[in-house]
This record gives sequence, structure tokens and C-alpha cells, in this order.
Amino acid sequence: MIERCHMWPCRIVIACSNEHDIGKSGEPMRLSTKTAQVTGATSRIGEAIAYAFAREGAQMVITGRNVNRGQTVVDTIRDAGGSAHFVSADLTSQQDINALVAQADTAVGLVYILANNAGIFPMGPTADIDAATFDAAIATNVKAPFFLTAALAPKMARRGSGKIINVTTVVAHKGVAGTALYGATKAALTLLTKSWADEFGPSGANVNALVPHLVRTPGTEASLESLEQIAGRLPARRYAMPDEVAEAAVYLASQEARYLHGVILPVDGGYLAT
Ligand SMILES: NC(=O)c1ccc[n+]([C@@H]2O[C@H](COP(=O)([O-])OP(=O)(O)OC[C@H]3O[C@@H](n4cnc5c(N)ncnc54)[C@H](OP(=O)(O)O)[C@@H]3O)[C@@H](O)[C@H]2O)c1
Repeated sequence: MIERCHMWPCRIVIACSNEHDIGKSGEPMRLSTKTAQVTGATSRIGEAIAYAFAREGAQMVITGRNVNRGQTVVDTIRDAGGSAHFVSADLTSQQDINALVAQADTAVGLVYILANNAGIFPMGPTADIDAATFDAAIATNVKAPFFLTAALAPKMARRGSGKIINVTTVVAHKGVAGTALYGATKAALTLLTKSWADEFGPSGANVNALVPHLVRTPGTEASLESLEQIAGRLPARRYAMPDEVAEAAVYLASQEARYLHGVILPVDGGYLAT
């Protein structure tokens, strides 16, 4: 299976010949026999979550719009001895969402872990946001997780187990100029997390959210200096690596988190605490 990777970017995973569900380190893999679907797994945080789940033995459904990047993620997991399938879907299309649900079911059967990670982040003054941008943000950040959850959570509930992990942001919790639309969409996802915890928790599904703040990704390389300056004021005194968000996702997906319902878990270096 796949060994934990501390390298940047986290594309390198190492094959080893494990038996049953024991990893190379000798520790049990926490998601063996589980199936997982990660939206936005063609890039940055979602990609890191996909690798982390695969390292723990999950059979992966990788989804996004970019077929080449999706196939690269799938190949990386398979080359390392893991199991992965790519399903291309534009989450702003209800037809694509329905097709994704059907194709994931064909590929791996019932999805045990759904990570609603895909997102877009339109920023800027409120008066500069046009209606199309507003609609795209709602469609991608709120409507897509809503209808994916609507399709999968009742099946998890019928089986009596499942995990839903929503990826939000610190600006869902703090008013910050220039993030009104983005923050509002993720605030909606935060409330959905709590509502779904109440709706599906009694049937055995755990619904929780991760709240990243400053994550160093290829997209932030250009502004590394300002990223370091802002991160330097955090209790952690540094930014996060995608792997660190992914490790929190593994925890929420694992049996160890079975008593967590509706938890909004900051992985933010302490930003929201101060
Ligand atoms: N990076 C950060 O510092 C940070 C901080 C806080 C929160 N977050 C949250 O973490 C999540 C991931 O962020 P990221 O930085 O990894 O983002 P990213 O690199 O921009 O990746 C976004 C992902 O979402 C997918 N996506 C976007 N629109 C889509 C659509 N219409 N249909 C299907 N897939 C779509 C993209 O897939 P394709 O490119 O293949 O279409 C891509 O895989 C987001 O929800 C974001 O709000 C990120």
C-alpha cells in the first residue's frame, strides 16, 4: 500500500507489499475496506486528501473537471499499489452530479466517505461581483455538496455507517473585506454540516467539517513572502502544508472519530482561536 509522504509537493507515494490491512510502518491502515469519494481531488488540498485516504487503504473515486490532472492522481495511487478511479464531473451541472453518483457506485459500490472539498473562491469588493460569479460560487460551494450529500447520505444511513467531511474556510467565521461571497458560501456549508449531523447522525453517519486557513500550495508560491508574513502571526507561526489538512481529514474519516458529529474542526494554525 501507500506510505505517508512528507515531501512537497505531496505527489510521491511509496509502494510496499503489505498483507491484509497492516501498513509498512506496522500500523493498521485506518481506512482499509472503505470506499471514498473526494471532490476537487485533481488539485492541491483535495489531491492531498485523496493520497492520504489511499495510503490508509481506501478505494478512491477521484473527481474534478480536469481529466489529465485527475488521471495523474489515479495513476499515482495505482502505481503505489492503491485503488483509484477518475470520474470527470462539472459540479455546477446537476446532470454531472447525478452521473458522478452513478459512476462512483459502479466503480466502488456504496461510497463510505464523501469529502466535499471542491470549491471556488471569488474574492473582491462586493460591488465587483457579477451575477454569474455569484451563481457559480453558490453552485460549486453549496449546491454541489448539498446534492451529493442528498444522494449519498441516505444510503449511508440505511447501511448504518458513513462519513461526510465538508471543507470550509476560516472566513466562514470571521467577516473579512473582500471575502463576503466566498465566506457566505462556506458559512452555508458550515450550517449544512451541523444540520446533516442532526439528520444523519442517528443513523450512524458522521458529518463534520474541516476549516483550513493558510495552506501552502503551488497556487500560493508566487505570494510566498506575504503568506509567510501572515502565517508568522499565527500561534503556529507558519502556514499549513496540504498534507496537514489531509491528515485531519483521515482522522474525521476514521473510526477514531466515531463520536464526532457536527464538529467544525479548524486546521488553521490557531487563527480562529486568537
Ligand atoms: N488553499 C487554501 O489555502 C484554502 C484555505 C481555506 C479553505 N480552502 C478550501 O479548500 C478546498 C480546496 O482548496 P484548494 O486550494 O485545494 O483549491 P484548488 O486548488 O483551486 O482546487 C479546487 C478543486 O475544486 C475543483 N472544482 C472547482 N470547480 C469545480 C466544478 N465546477 N466542478 C468540479 N470540480 C470543481 C477543481 O477541479 P478541476 O480543476 O479539475 O475542475 C479542483 O480540483 C476549497 O473548498 C477551498 O475553499 C482552501
